[in-house]
Amino acid sequence: MTTKFDALLAHRARTAATTISDLMLAAPDRAQTYSARLGEMLFDFSKTQIDAEALDLLIKLTEGAGVADRREAMFSGAKINETEGRAVLHTALRNLSGSVMFEGQDVMPEVRAIHARCEAFARDVREGRFTGQGGRITDVVNIGIGGSDLGPAMACLALSPYADGPRCHFVSNVDGAHITDTLKHLNPETTLVIVASKTFTTIETMTNANTAKAWMAEKVANPAAQFAAVSTAGDKTAAYGIDSERVFGFEDWVGGRYSMWGPIGLSLMIAIGPEDFAEFLRGGADMDKHFREAPFAENLPVLLALVGIWHNQICGHATRAVLPYDQRLGRLPAYLQQLEMESNGKRVSMDGVDLPYESGPVVWGEPGTNGQHAFYQLIHQGTRVVPCEFIVAREGHEPALAHQHLLLVANCLAQSEALMRGRSLDEARAIMAKKGLTGAELERQARHRVFPGNRPSTTLAIPKLTPFTLGQIIALYEHRVFVEGVILGINSYDQWGVELGKELALALQPILEGRESAAGKDSSTRQLVAYLRG
Ligand code: F6P
Repeated sequence: MTTKFDALLAHRARTAATTISDLMLAAPDRAQTYSARLGEMLFDFSKTQIDAEALDLLIKLTEGAGVADRREAMFSGAKINETEGRAVLHTALRNLSGSVMFEGQDVMPEVRAIHARCEAFARDVREGRFTGQGGRITDVVNIGIGGSDLGPAMACLALSPYADGPRCHFVSNVDGAHITDTLKHLNPETTLVIVASKTFTTIETMTNANTAKAWMAEKVANPAAQFAAVSTAGDKTAAYGIDSERVFGFEDWVGGRYSMWGPIGLSLMIAIGPEDFAEFLRGGADMDKHFREAPFAENLPVLLALVGIWHNQICGHATRAVLPYDQRLGRLPAYLQQLEMESNGKRVSMDGVDLPYESGPVVWGEPGTNGQHAFYQLIHQGTRVVPCEFIVAREGHEPALAHQHLLLVANCLAQSEALMRGRSLDEARAIMAKKGLTGAELERQARHRVFPGNRPSTTLAIPKLTPFTLGQIIALYEHRVFVEGVILGINSYDQWGVELGKELALALQPILEGRESAAGKDSSTRQLVAYLRG
């Protein structure tokens, strides 16, 4: 079967033997050619096997797939989420001065109004005008899951040097351990609970919200007064008893995993303050502008997407590792797992036909340098190739520990260099000979010390991790997902794949409670039910 990738696959077959080091040696200015900048942000993809023809073919792919038209359709409010009949307008949440028409109406007055309400509430909490029944709010607990948790949780950690408000905590798992361990150190009289759920029906979130309410009711006369809600379902938040003054709504054209820019970011706004939150939005809007205006050959989200397509659909590498050399980006891989895998993990194209090629890749990662002492062994010497995406800042937030930051940066650069260069058998033999080994033992030991090299990586370098640069990074990855999705011809904005498990969990509840029989279940499920019921 022929696919849109055939020309690239043929090119790959012809050039697979040319290593990244060969390409580097052949063109002394390769790094400049195969990189792009936005302001002070630098994206270097020169340590890949992409050559001029591959890049040309990749850019042609975007033309064939209609990326430019689709991009404008997204920004202008067309219902590009076709399986749910929804627009995809999260970009409107970070471009507060713009105007965006949706179904004949400018949505921005409403977006600005909700944003202003969030700001006012955040200020009231931070400045002590909104209090708990025991005084000033000391702690905020955001109860949500998936897109209603990962974004603000990731960003609160990333921007902790900017946090000067109440402490923020995040509870997501329905495992009672999560809420128990979170609440046990908190004072119910000075805690604000934010129930964050787009649909306000997610069982994990509603169960944890009920637990938090009961915990608060033990000490506080009116627990609902210390609850706020963020949701698209105003009727359900009202039924839950949360005063509409503390309900912050948004529209269904904001997907859960794209929602941290709006009211779902309330906990972050309370933690870092509205000014720094606005900087975060400005960073996102800056990337939007670049994505809309820069030619594709210089366009960071487009290039990041094309590198992704090259490694996954063309080279056949099934996973990619995101490796931030920044401890505070520790939750970024988890955030990107939802963003990328929930968006592009689809086996059927927009028109309902099976994809004749792979869907989006498995995304995983950990901050460096920790990963180096754990799983990098496989990345360097395993049989599978894992394209790596390094992220590193020029400057840290600890001037007194600048020497540690230097060491961090050195490690990041060393890894991408080592992955590219590797170590040949002859080099390994020379090392063993220096250690005094000879003959068969030298040969045997040397083979274990060979690094194949030619392992691809990209590096995203930023001046410093700030609210602005974090906004740029998140919007960069969002648009990367968009471009990859358009090229794959899938709908990046639905998530039907999460439904079946939810339905079966609901059906298993009465079986586990002993109210219904497990007879209709397969023998494995029956055995596990019997075991777990004890
Ligand atoms: O089950 C998947 C999902 O719908 C995600 O897409 C979403 O981010 C998460 O659950 C939480 O949903 P909600 O915000 O509606 O509680």
